[in-house]
Amino acid sequence: MKLSVVGCGYLGAVHAAAMASIGHQVVGIDVDARKIDSLSRGEAPFFEPGLPQILRDGVASGRLTFTTDMAAAAGSAVHFIGVGTPQQRDGYAADLTFVNAAIDALLPYLSPGDIVAGKSTVPVGTATELALRVRPTGAILTWNPEFLREGWALKDTIDPDRLVVGAPVGEDGQRAAEILRKVYHPAIAKGTPFIVTDLATAELVKVSANAFLATKISFINAMAEIAEVAGADVTQLADAIGIDDRIGRRFLGAGIGFGGGCLPKDIRAFTARAEELGRGESIAFLHEVDAINMRRRDRAVELVVKALGGAVFERNVTLLGAAFKPHSDDVRDSPALDVAVRLRGLGANVTVTDPAAIENARRVHPQLAYVADRDQALRGADAVVLVTEWDEYRRELAPEHAAALVKVPIMIDGRNAFDPAAWRAAGWTYYGMGRP
Ligand code: UDX
Repeated sequence: MKLSVVGCGYLGAVHAAAMASIGHQVVGIDVDARKIDSLSRGEAPFFEPGLPQILRDGVASGRLTFTTDMAAAAGSAVHFIGVGTPQQRDGYAADLTFVNAAIDALLPYLSPGDIVAGKSTVPVGTATELALRVRPTGAILTWNPEFLREGWALKDTIDPDRLVVGAPVGEDGQRAAEILRKVYHPAIAKGTPFIVTDLATAELVKVSANAFLATKISFINAMAEIAEVAGADVTQLADAIGIDDRIGRRFLGAGIGFGGGCLPKDIRAFTARAEELGRGESIAFLHEVDAINMRRRDRAVELVVKALGGAVFERNVTLLGAAFKPHSDDVRDSPALDVAVRLRGLGANVTVTDPAAIENARRVHPQLAYVADRDQALRGADAVVLVTEWDEYRRELAPEHAAALVKVPIMIDGRNAFDPAAWRAAGWTYYGMGRP
Protein backbone atom coordinates (compact mmCIF):
# COMPACT_ATOMS: atom_id res chain seq x y z
CA MET A 1 0.00 0.00 0.00
CA LYS A 2 1.06 3.58 -0.48
CA LEU A 3 1.57 5.28 2.90
CA SER A 4 2.79 8.65 4.07
CA VAL A 5 4.28 9.38 7.48
CA VAL A 6 4.19 13.01 8.56
CA GLY A 7 6.90 13.78 11.14
CA CYS A 8 10.19 11.89 10.95
CA GLY A 9 11.41 12.11 14.53
CA TYR A 10 11.84 9.01 16.62
CA LEU A 11 8.35 7.69 16.14
CA GLY A 12 7.88 8.71 12.50
CA ALA A 13 11.27 7.60 11.18
CA VAL A 14 10.94 4.20 12.83
CA HIS A 15 7.36 3.81 11.63
CA ALA A 16 8.24 4.76 8.04
CA ALA A 17 11.20 2.36 7.91
CA ALA A 18 9.23 -0.45 9.56
CA MET A 19 6.28 -0.06 7.17
CA ALA A 20 8.64 -0.15 4.16
CA SER A 21 10.27 -3.28 5.57
CA ILE A 22 6.94 -5.13 5.53
CA GLY A 23 6.42 -4.24 1.86
CA HIS A 24 4.60 -0.90 1.78
CA GLN A 25 5.56 2.05 -0.41
CA VAL A 26 6.31 4.79 2.11
CA VAL A 27 7.11 8.48 1.97
CA GLY A 28 8.35 10.14 5.15
CA ILE A 29 7.76 13.89 5.37
CA ASP A 30 9.30 16.39 7.77
CA VAL A 31 9.94 20.15 7.83
CA ASP A 32 13.53 19.59 9.01
CA ALA A 33 15.63 19.44 5.81
CA ARG A 34 18.73 18.13 7.62
CA LYS A 35 16.80 15.22 9.08
CA ILE A 36 15.33 14.45 5.65
CA ASP A 37 18.79 14.56 4.00
CA SER A 38 20.20 12.16 6.54
CA LEU A 39 17.25 9.76 6.32
CA SER A 40 17.33 9.90 2.48
CA ARG A 41 20.93 8.71 2.62
CA GLY A 42 19.74 5.81 4.78
CA GLU A 43 21.33 7.29 7.91
CA ALA A 44 19.46 7.28 11.22
CA PRO A 45 19.62 10.70 12.94
CA PHE A 46 19.50 8.96 16.37
CA PHE A 47 20.62 5.72 17.97
CA GLU A 48 18.22 2.83 17.63
CA PRO A 49 19.43 -0.76 17.31
CA GLY A 50 18.60 -2.19 13.86
CA LEU A 51 17.31 1.07 12.40
CA PRO A 52 20.32 1.93 10.17
CA GLN A 53 20.05 -1.43 8.39
CA ILE A 54 16.32 -1.26 7.82
CA LEU A 55 16.60 2.35 6.61
CA ARG A 56 19.35 1.51 4.14
CA ASP A 57 17.42 -1.51 2.86
CA GLY A 58 14.24 0.54 2.50
CA VAL A 59 15.93 3.40 0.66
CA ALA A 60 17.88 0.99 -1.60
CA SER A 61 14.69 -0.92 -2.49
CA GLY A 62 13.01 2.30 -3.61
CA ARG A 63 10.09 1.59 -1.24
CA LEU A 64 11.18 4.23 1.25
CA THR A 65 11.66 7.89 0.38
CA PHE A 66 11.89 11.06 2.44
CA THR A 67 11.02 14.63 1.52
CA THR A 68 10.18 18.03 2.96
CA ASP A 69 7.43 18.44 0.35
CA MET A 70 3.99 17.71 1.80
CA ALA A 71 2.60 17.34 -1.73
CA ALA A 72 4.27 13.92 -1.79
CA ALA A 73 1.57 12.72 0.61
CA ALA A 74 -1.06 13.00 -2.11
CA GLY A 75 -2.31 9.63 -3.31
CA SER A 76 -1.40 7.71 -0.14
CA ALA A 77 -4.08 5.40 1.22
CA VAL A 78 -3.05 6.14 4.81
CA HIS A 79 -1.36 9.25 6.22
CA PHE A 80 0.25 8.59 9.60
CA ILE A 81 0.86 11.56 11.89
CA GLY A 82 3.93 10.99 14.05
CA VAL A 83 4.97 14.46 15.15
CA GLY A 84 6.01 15.29 18.71
CA THR A 85 3.73 16.52 21.51
CA PRO A 86 6.24 17.95 24.01
CA GLN A 87 5.43 19.41 27.42
CA GLN A 88 4.50 23.10 27.18
CA ARG A 89 7.21 25.47 28.32
CA ASP A 90 5.05 27.14 30.95
CA GLY A 91 3.03 24.23 32.27
CA TYR A 92 2.25 20.54 32.29
CA ALA A 93 -0.11 20.38 29.32
CA ALA A 94 0.93 18.89 25.98
CA ASP A 95 1.96 21.32 23.27
CA LEU A 96 -0.13 20.47 20.20
CA THR A 97 1.52 23.01 17.87
CA PHE A 98 3.18 20.32 15.75
CA VAL A 99 0.07 18.14 15.47
CA ASN A 100 -2.03 21.11 14.40
CA ALA A 101 0.61 22.28 11.91
CA ALA A 102 0.93 18.80 10.43
CA ILE A 103 -2.84 18.49 9.92
CA ASP A 104 -3.08 21.99 8.41
CA ALA A 105 -0.25 21.26 5.98
CA LEU A 106 -1.73 17.88 5.03
CA LEU A 107 -5.33 19.04 4.44
CA PRO A 108 -4.81 20.30 0.85
CA TYR A 109 -3.44 16.90 -0.21
CA LEU A 110 -6.17 14.71 1.25
CA SER A 111 -8.68 12.99 -1.02
CA PRO A 112 -12.07 11.49 -0.18
CA GLY A 113 -11.62 8.05 1.37
CA ASP A 114 -8.04 8.65 2.52
CA ILE A 115 -7.29 7.56 6.07
CA VAL A 116 -5.46 9.87 8.47
CA ALA A 117 -4.02 7.84 11.35
CA GLY A 118 -2.74 9.84 14.31
CA LYS A 119 0.05 8.09 16.21
CA SER A 120 1.28 10.93 18.43
CA THR A 121 0.39 10.83 22.13
CA VAL A 122 -2.31 13.47 22.58
CA PRO A 123 -4.68 14.65 25.31
CA VAL A 124 -7.98 12.82 25.11
CA GLY A 125 -10.41 14.80 22.94
CA THR A 126 -7.79 15.98 20.45
CA ALA A 127 -8.72 13.42 17.80
CA THR A 128 -12.39 14.41 17.81
CA GLU A 129 -11.43 18.03 17.16
CA LEU A 130 -9.04 17.02 14.40
CA ALA A 131 -11.72 14.79 12.85
CA LEU A 132 -13.91 17.87 12.39
CA ARG A 133 -11.12 19.64 10.55
CA VAL A 134 -10.39 16.68 8.31
CA ARG A 135 -14.04 15.90 7.51
CA PRO A 136 -14.55 18.50 4.69
CA THR A 137 -11.83 16.76 2.62
CA GLY A 138 -13.74 13.45 2.72
CA ALA A 139 -10.80 11.76 4.48
CA ILE A 140 -11.43 9.78 7.68
CA LEU A 141 -9.48 10.49 10.86
CA THR A 142 -8.50 7.56 13.09
CA TRP A 143 -6.25 7.29 16.13
CA ASN A 144 -3.66 4.53 16.19
CA PRO A 145 -1.46 5.08 19.26
CA GLU A 146 2.10 3.88 19.34
CA PHE A 147 3.51 1.92 22.26
CA LEU A 148 7.12 1.61 21.12
CA ARG A 149 9.96 1.63 23.60
CA GLU A 150 13.22 3.24 22.63
CA GLY A 151 15.83 0.56 22.10
CA TRP A 152 13.13 -1.92 21.02
CA ALA A 153 11.36 0.38 18.60
CA LEU A 154 11.54 -1.84 15.51
CA LYS A 155 10.37 -4.96 17.29
CA ASP A 156 7.58 -2.96 18.94
CA THR A 157 6.47 -1.55 15.56
CA ILE A 158 6.75 -4.65 13.37
CA ASP A 159 5.69 -7.18 16.01
CA PRO A 160 3.77 -5.20 18.67
CA ASP A 161 1.93 -6.58 21.72
CA ARG A 162 -1.30 -5.11 20.44
CA LEU A 163 -2.63 -2.75 17.80
CA VAL A 164 -5.25 -0.20 18.82
CA VAL A 165 -7.34 1.75 16.34
CA GLY A 166 -9.79 4.43 17.35
CA ALA A 167 -12.25 5.14 14.56
CA PRO A 168 -15.49 7.08 14.20
CA VAL A 169 -18.66 5.09 14.78
CA GLY A 170 -20.38 3.93 11.56
CA GLU A 171 -19.52 2.72 8.10
CA ASP A 172 -16.64 5.14 7.50
CA GLY A 173 -14.99 4.08 10.72
CA GLN A 174 -15.36 0.40 9.88
CA ARG A 175 -13.86 0.95 6.45
CA ALA A 176 -10.94 2.87 7.98
CA ALA A 177 -10.28 0.08 10.47
CA GLU A 178 -10.30 -2.48 7.64
CA ILE A 179 -7.70 -0.47 5.71
CA LEU A 180 -5.47 -0.27 8.81
CA ARG A 181 -5.94 -4.00 9.32
CA LYS A 182 -4.45 -4.46 5.81
CA VAL A 183 -1.54 -2.15 6.64
CA TYR A 184 -0.68 -4.26 9.68
CA HIS A 185 -1.53 -7.60 8.07
CA PRO A 186 1.83 -9.35 8.78
CA ALA A 187 1.56 -8.71 12.54
CA ILE A 188 -2.15 -9.58 12.66
CA ALA A 189 -1.50 -12.84 10.78
CA LYS A 190 0.96 -13.74 13.55
CA GLY A 191 -1.77 -13.29 16.15
CA THR A 192 -1.29 -9.68 17.33
CA PRO A 193 -4.60 -8.51 18.86
CA PHE A 194 -6.20 -5.76 16.75
CA ILE A 195 -8.51 -3.68 18.92
CA VAL A 196 -10.98 -1.35 17.23
CA THR A 197 -12.55 1.26 19.46
CA ASP A 198 -13.68 4.90 19.47
CA LEU A 199 -11.32 7.86 19.16
CA ALA A 200 -11.35 8.86 22.84
CA THR A 201 -10.69 5.32 24.08
CA ALA A 202 -7.77 4.91 21.68
CA GLU A 203 -6.20 8.16 22.91
CA LEU A 204 -6.76 7.11 26.53
CA VAL A 205 -5.33 3.61 26.07
CA LYS A 206 -1.97 5.18 25.36
CA VAL A 207 -1.85 7.69 28.20
CA SER A 208 -3.30 5.27 30.74
CA ALA A 209 -0.75 2.58 29.76
CA ASN A 210 2.09 5.05 30.36
CA ALA A 211 0.48 6.28 33.59
CA PHE A 212 0.25 2.69 34.82
CA LEU A 213 3.90 1.97 33.99
CA ALA A 214 5.04 5.16 35.71
CA THR A 215 2.90 4.27 38.74
CA LYS A 216 4.43 0.82 38.89
CA ILE A 217 7.95 2.26 38.94
CA SER A 218 7.04 4.87 41.56
CA PHE A 219 5.29 2.23 43.65
CA ILE A 220 8.47 0.20 43.92
CA ASN A 221 10.51 3.35 44.52
CA ALA A 222 8.14 4.24 47.36
CA MET A 223 8.82 0.77 48.78
CA ALA A 224 12.54 1.56 48.39
CA GLU A 225 12.07 4.66 50.56
CA ILE A 226 10.45 2.51 53.25
CA ALA A 227 13.08 -0.22 52.85
CA GLU A 228 15.77 2.41 53.40
CA VAL A 229 14.49 3.25 56.88
CA ALA A 230 13.42 -0.30 57.77
CA GLY A 231 16.66 -1.99 56.73
CA ALA A 232 14.90 -4.09 54.07
CA ASP A 233 15.98 -4.95 50.52
CA VAL A 234 13.64 -3.64 47.81
CA THR A 235 15.08 -5.88 45.07
CA GLN A 236 14.26 -9.02 47.04
CA LEU A 237 10.88 -7.53 47.84
CA ALA A 238 10.26 -6.91 44.11
CA ASP A 239 11.31 -10.48 43.27
CA ALA A 240 8.92 -11.83 45.86
CA ILE A 241 5.86 -9.74 44.97
CA GLY A 242 6.64 -9.98 41.24
CA ILE A 243 6.17 -13.77 41.25
CA ASP A 244 2.46 -13.13 41.63
CA ASP A 245 1.49 -12.81 37.99
CA ARG A 246 -1.24 -10.32 38.91
CA ILE A 247 1.65 -8.03 39.85
CA GLY A 248 4.49 -9.16 37.56
CA ARG A 249 8.20 -8.46 38.03
CA ARG A 250 8.66 -6.11 35.05
CA PHE A 251 8.82 -2.37 35.78
CA LEU A 252 9.53 -3.08 39.43
CA GLY A 253 13.14 -1.94 39.09
CA ALA A 254 13.75 0.50 41.96
CA GLY A 255 16.52 3.06 41.53
CA ILE A 256 16.84 6.65 40.36
CA GLY A 257 13.49 6.43 38.60
CA PHE A 258 12.03 7.05 35.18
CA GLY A 259 12.89 9.68 32.63
CA GLY A 260 12.90 10.00 28.86
CA GLY A 261 10.72 11.73 26.32
CA CYS A 262 7.50 9.92 27.25
CA LEU A 263 6.65 8.82 30.79
CA PRO A 264 7.35 12.12 32.64
CA LYS A 265 5.67 14.37 30.10
CA ASP A 266 2.78 12.00 29.48
CA ILE A 267 1.74 11.73 33.13
CA ARG A 268 1.96 15.52 33.47
CA ALA A 269 -0.07 16.13 30.31
CA PHE A 270 -2.62 13.58 31.52
CA THR A 271 -3.09 15.36 34.84
CA ALA A 272 -3.42 18.70 33.03
CA ARG A 273 -6.08 17.27 30.70
CA ALA A 274 -7.96 15.61 33.58
CA GLU A 275 -8.09 18.99 35.35
CA GLU A 276 -9.46 20.64 32.19
CA LEU A 277 -12.14 17.94 32.12
CA GLY A 278 -13.04 18.65 35.75
CA ARG A 279 -11.69 15.28 36.93
CA GLY A 280 -8.32 16.33 38.30
CA GLU A 281 -8.99 14.40 41.52
CA SER A 282 -9.38 11.11 39.63
CA ILE A 283 -5.71 10.98 38.79
CA ALA A 284 -4.32 13.29 41.46
CA PHE A 285 -2.15 10.35 42.54
CA LEU A 286 -0.07 10.93 39.41
CA HIS A 287 1.29 14.08 41.08
CA GLU A 288 2.55 11.77 43.81
CA VAL A 289 3.97 9.36 41.23
CA ASP A 290 5.93 12.28 39.75
CA ALA A 291 7.07 13.50 43.18
CA ILE A 292 8.28 10.05 44.29
CA ASN A 293 10.16 9.76 41.00
CA MET A 294 11.92 13.10 41.44
CA ARG A 295 12.84 12.28 45.05
CA ARG A 296 14.88 9.30 43.87
CA ARG A 297 17.31 11.65 42.14
CA ASP A 298 17.70 13.60 45.41
CA ARG A 299 18.29 10.32 47.21
CA ALA A 300 21.08 9.29 44.81
CA VAL A 301 22.82 12.64 45.37
CA GLU A 302 22.35 12.26 49.12
CA LEU A 303 23.96 8.80 49.02
CA VAL A 304 27.00 10.11 47.16
CA VAL A 305 27.41 12.93 49.68
CA LYS A 306 27.05 10.49 52.56
CA ALA A 307 29.48 8.00 51.00
CA LEU A 308 32.07 10.75 50.61
CA GLY A 309 31.85 11.72 54.26
CA GLY A 310 29.44 14.65 54.03
CA ALA A 311 30.80 16.76 51.16
CA VAL A 312 31.59 16.20 47.49
CA PHE A 313 33.43 19.50 46.90
CA GLU A 314 36.41 18.85 44.59
CA ARG A 315 35.99 15.09 44.90
CA ASN A 316 36.16 13.02 41.72
CA VAL A 317 32.82 11.42 40.98
CA THR A 318 32.40 9.22 37.90
CA LEU A 319 28.93 8.62 36.53
CA LEU A 320 28.41 5.47 34.49
CA GLY A 321 25.67 6.49 32.08
CA ALA A 322 24.03 9.59 30.64
CA ALA A 323 21.12 8.19 28.60
CA PHE A 324 17.72 7.93 30.33
CA LYS A 325 17.97 4.16 29.91
CA PRO A 326 20.24 1.62 28.18
CA HIS A 327 20.07 0.95 24.40
CA SER A 328 19.33 4.62 23.78
CA ASP A 329 21.23 7.85 23.14
CA ASP A 330 18.28 9.87 24.39
CA VAL A 331 19.01 12.25 27.27
CA ARG A 332 15.60 13.93 27.46
CA ASP A 333 14.71 14.23 31.15
CA SER A 334 17.47 11.77 31.93
CA PRO A 335 17.68 10.97 35.66
CA ALA A 336 21.36 10.09 35.05
CA LEU A 337 22.24 13.58 33.83
CA ASP A 338 20.10 15.23 36.46
CA VAL A 339 22.14 13.48 39.17
CA ALA A 340 25.37 14.49 37.39
CA VAL A 341 24.32 18.14 37.19
CA ARG A 342 23.32 18.25 40.86
CA LEU A 343 26.62 16.74 41.98
CA ARG A 344 28.45 19.25 39.83
CA GLY A 345 26.37 21.97 41.49
CA LEU A 346 27.71 20.79 44.85
CA GLY A 347 31.26 21.27 43.60
CA ALA A 348 32.19 17.69 42.65
CA ASN A 349 34.55 17.04 39.74
CA VAL A 350 32.03 15.06 37.73
CA THR A 351 33.07 12.79 34.86
CA VAL A 352 30.34 11.24 32.74
CA THR A 353 30.77 8.26 30.44
CA ASP A 354 28.19 6.53 28.24
CA PRO A 355 28.41 4.15 25.27
CA ALA A 356 26.00 6.17 23.09
CA ALA A 357 24.72 9.39 24.63
CA ILE A 358 27.79 11.60 25.20
CA GLU A 359 27.23 13.80 22.16
CA ASN A 360 23.63 14.50 23.09
CA ALA A 361 24.54 15.01 26.74
CA ARG A 362 27.27 17.50 25.88
CA ARG A 363 24.83 19.55 23.85
CA VAL A 364 22.47 19.93 26.85
CA HIS A 365 25.03 20.13 29.66
CA PRO A 366 28.33 21.41 28.27
CA GLN A 367 29.54 22.18 31.81
CA LEU A 368 30.10 18.47 32.57
CA ALA A 369 33.28 16.55 31.67
CA TYR A 370 32.72 13.64 29.28
CA VAL A 371 35.02 10.69 28.67
CA ALA A 372 34.01 8.10 26.09
CA ASP A 373 36.27 5.33 27.38
CA ARG A 374 34.78 3.61 30.43
CA ASP A 375 38.07 2.67 32.07
CA GLN A 376 39.53 6.10 31.43
CA ALA A 377 36.48 7.61 33.13
CA LEU A 378 36.93 5.38 36.18
CA ARG A 379 40.58 6.25 36.68
CA GLY A 380 41.18 8.21 39.88
CA ALA A 381 37.52 8.31 40.99
CA ASP A 382 36.69 8.91 44.65
CA ALA A 383 33.22 7.45 44.05
CA VAL A 384 31.42 5.80 41.12
CA VAL A 385 27.68 6.12 40.48
CA LEU A 386 25.88 3.72 38.17
CA VAL A 387 23.04 5.74 36.67
CA THR A 388 22.23 3.91 33.40
CA GLU A 389 22.38 0.13 33.52
CA TRP A 390 24.09 -0.50 30.16
CA ASP A 391 25.43 -4.06 29.68
CA GLU A 392 28.88 -2.46 29.37
CA TYR A 393 28.61 -1.78 33.10
CA ARG A 394 26.08 -4.26 34.45
CA ARG A 395 27.51 -7.36 32.80
CA GLU A 396 30.93 -6.43 31.52
CA LEU A 397 32.46 -4.41 34.34
CA ALA A 398 34.19 -6.72 36.81
CA PRO A 399 34.47 -5.22 40.32
CA GLU A 400 38.12 -6.32 40.62
CA HIS A 401 39.00 -4.62 37.32
CA ALA A 402 37.18 -1.42 38.34
CA ALA A 403 38.79 -1.42 41.81
CA ALA A 404 42.24 -1.28 40.21
CA LEU A 405 41.30 1.90 38.31
CA VAL A 406 39.61 4.06 40.94
CA LYS A 407 41.22 5.94 43.82
CA VAL A 408 38.55 4.98 46.36
CA PRO A 409 36.32 1.93 45.73
CA ILE A 410 32.91 3.40 46.52
CA MET A 411 30.00 2.30 44.33
CA ILE A 412 26.59 3.94 44.44
CA ASP A 413 24.40 1.64 42.35
CA GLY A 414 21.58 3.92 41.24
CA ARG A 415 19.91 1.12 39.28
CA ASN A 416 20.37 -1.82 41.67
CA ALA A 417 22.06 -3.54 38.76
CA PHE A 418 25.07 -5.03 40.55
CA ASP A 419 25.41 -7.95 42.93
CA PRO A 420 26.35 -6.25 46.23
CA ALA A 421 28.16 -9.36 47.51
CA ALA A 422 30.47 -9.52 44.48
CA TRP A 423 31.36 -5.82 44.74
CA ARG A 424 31.92 -5.97 48.49
CA ALA A 425 34.10 -9.07 48.06
CA ALA A 426 36.27 -7.05 45.65
CA GLY A 427 36.82 -4.39 48.32
CA TRP A 428 34.12 -1.92 47.38
CA THR A 429 31.87 0.01 49.73
CA TYR A 430 28.56 -0.64 47.99
CA TYR A 431 25.37 1.43 48.28
CA GLY A 432 22.17 0.39 46.49
CA MET A 433 18.84 2.23 46.28
CA GLY A 434 16.55 0.76 48.92
CA ARG A 435 19.01 -1.96 49.87
CA PRO A 436 20.69 -2.30 53.24
C1 UDX B 1 7.84 4.23 27.40
C2 UDX B 1 6.84 3.09 27.32
O1 UDX B 1 7.42 1.88 27.84
C3 UDX B 1 6.38 2.89 25.89
O2 UDX B 1 5.40 1.86 25.83
C4 UDX B 1 5.82 4.19 25.38
O3 UDX B 1 5.43 4.07 24.02
C5 UDX B 1 6.83 5.31 25.51
O4 UDX B 1 7.27 5.41 26.86
P1 UDX B 1 10.45 4.49 26.84
O5 UDX B 1 10.32 5.92 27.20
O6 UDX B 1 11.21 4.12 25.62
O7 UDX B 1 8.99 3.83 26.66
O8 UDX B 1 11.15 3.78 28.07
P2 UDX B 1 10.84 2.62 29.12
O9 UDX B 1 11.57 1.41 28.72
O10 UDX B 1 9.41 2.50 29.40
O11 UDX B 1 11.59 3.23 30.41
C6 UDX B 1 11.18 4.48 30.94
C7 UDX B 1 12.01 4.88 32.11
O12 UDX B 1 11.67 4.08 33.24
C8 UDX B 1 13.52 4.74 31.95
O13 UDX B 1 14.16 5.89 32.49
C9 UDX B 1 13.86 3.51 32.76
O14 UDX B 1 15.18 3.54 33.25
C10 UDX B 1 12.85 3.60 33.88
N1 UDX B 1 12.52 2.32 34.52
C11 UDX B 1 11.97 1.30 33.78
C12 UDX B 1 12.75 2.14 35.88
O15 UDX B 1 13.24 3.05 36.56
N2 UDX B 1 12.43 0.94 36.45
C13 UDX B 1 11.89 -0.08 35.76
O16 UDX B 1 11.63 -1.13 36.35
C14 UDX B 1 11.65 0.10 34.37
